[in-house]
Amino acid sequence: MKAATITSYGPPDVLSIHDMPTPRPRSDEVLVRVRAAAINPKDTFIRKGRFKRFTGRHFPLLTGFDFAGEVAAVGAAVTDTTVGEAVYGMLDGWQGGACAEYVAVKAGRFCKKPEGVSFDEAAALPLVSLTALQALRNHAGIASGMQVCVNGASGGVGSMAVQIAKIMGAEVTAISSEQNHDFLESLGADRCIDYRHGDIGRGRQFEIFFDVFGNRPFRSVKPILSRRGVWVSTVIQPHVFLSVALTRFFSHRKAKLVVVKSRGEDLAQVRRWVAAGLLRPIVHDVFPLEKIREAHVQQETKHTRGKIVIHIG
Ligand SMILES: NC(=O)c1ccc[n+]([C@@H]2O[C@H](COP(=O)([O-])OP(=O)(O)OC[C@H]3O[C@@H](n4cnc5c(N)ncnc54)[C@H](OP(=O)(O)O)[C@@H]3O)[C@@H](O)[C@H]2O)c1
Repeated sequence: MKAATITSYGPPDVLSIHDMPTPRPRSDEVLVRVRAAAINPKDTFIRKGRFKRFTGRHFPLLTGFDFAGEVAAVGAAVTDTTVGEAVYGMLDGWQGGACAEYVAVKAGRFCKKPEGVSFDEAAALPLVSLTALQALRNHAGIASGMQVCVNGASGGVGSMAVQIAKIMGAEVTAISSEQNHDFLESLGADRCIDYRHGDIGRGRQFEIFFDVFGNRPFRSVKPILSRRGVWVSTVIQPHVFLSVALTRFFSHRKAKLVVVKSRGEDLAQVRRWVAAGLLRPIVHDVFPLEKIREAHVQQETKHTRGKIVIHIG
């Protein structure tokens, strides 16, 4: 099969398309014929070698975590799908493989593709929607009527967080550059703030501050968090671990770190929201597999609106 691979750690040039053996699904896996995949910052970090402790030094490495496609083979222990079913999902851990014609996926890490969206759109959903859902629901305990602020609101995770917070009945303040404010209002944001112009709170207190972009540390946000407010970060940095540890016992206001997990039940929730027209995938651009280098370059601009998708066919 054709697969995008990383041939050594480095810049986008280390990506190339290789003929690789088609994976053989184990008994608890399905083989998916991938129709589309999506790029995440995680892919670019792995490519640069930031996580080489986990990804090792055996090249070529497969790449990509988000996929949408059709089930091509079903392991003996998998009972909830059949060959030909359209599915979408996310690989867990550090071994990618979604940017390829076929990928083997464990049971519980995929579910039926949402109806009414293309494979390209479905591939834009898993990692970012699960991150937003797990951060807002599991870590921050979102409830109707809460004031929620999303920093980095127009990117992959942010554009899902704004929509999911609105579905959950929150009032949403979105932080992005001004050029994305109309877009964020179209997703339901109640007010938008340009990150280049100072005051975020404007007298407001937030029950949840979701720092998706990773440049608003807990200590800088504390004054605008309500008494039992929660700050959640997506970005693994030393100050995040420190804030999480310190606030665990010594503060009403809590700091949390979300680490996304691939969960079939959460993918099913996202599918229902998409099918009901409540949540929409946001696709910034679509590249063919052969142009995966360009896709990584776009991802690394840090100004993508929603997702970069790889169309595989
Ligand atoms: N821990 C986890 O499980 C987990 C899961 C998912 C993602 N992450 C991490 O979360 C981060 C965001 O991921 P993502 O996929 O959402 O990234 P992304 O799509 O690349 O985010 C791009 C967005 O960031 C915004 N942005 C740029 N500069 C900004 C600034 N100074 N202040 C606020 N926003 C700014 C941009 O808005 P403008 O274009 O308007 O400037 C753009 O829309 C990454 O570091 C990623 O690795 C972690």
